[in-house]
Amino acid sequence: MPPIAWKPEYSVGNAEVDYEHKELVELVNQTASAILNGKDADEIQKGFGELLSAISSHFALEEQEMLGYGYDQLAVHKADHEELLDELRDIMDGTGENPDKTAERLVASLEAWFTNHFKTHDARLHNQLG
Ligand SMILES: [Fe+2]
Ligand SMILES: [Fe+2]
Repeated sequence: MPPIAWKPEYSVGNAEVDYEHKELVELVNQTASAILNGKDADEIQKGFGELLSAISSHFALEEQEMLGYGYDQLAVHKADHEELLDELRDIMDGTGENPDKTAERLVASLEAWFTNHFKTHDARLHNQLG
């Protein structure tokens, strides 16, 4: 399973936000490669922990900004964040069972989510926030 490559369509038109998004993509790739390289369970859990915490803080920041701005699509945007966090926890819980499948699911799910979320919810939000 190849890692997630940054694509121009991921850009929300704000360099700082793109940089944060790139860091999230990078953490997904690092975690997937730790799994595929047969790293021990502790190291994999550590990777997932870092990924989950980076994603959670990024979401919290966006939700804070939406609140402060009185953003009209806060609820639907936040629901999409929650969905990803649920999916990520679910993937994390299945890690021990089949490492190859876990890595594949991690990359495929996150890539699909990034592709949709960045160009819809995040592009609209950061376009309004300026
Ligand atoms: Fe978002
Ligand atoms: Fe975002």
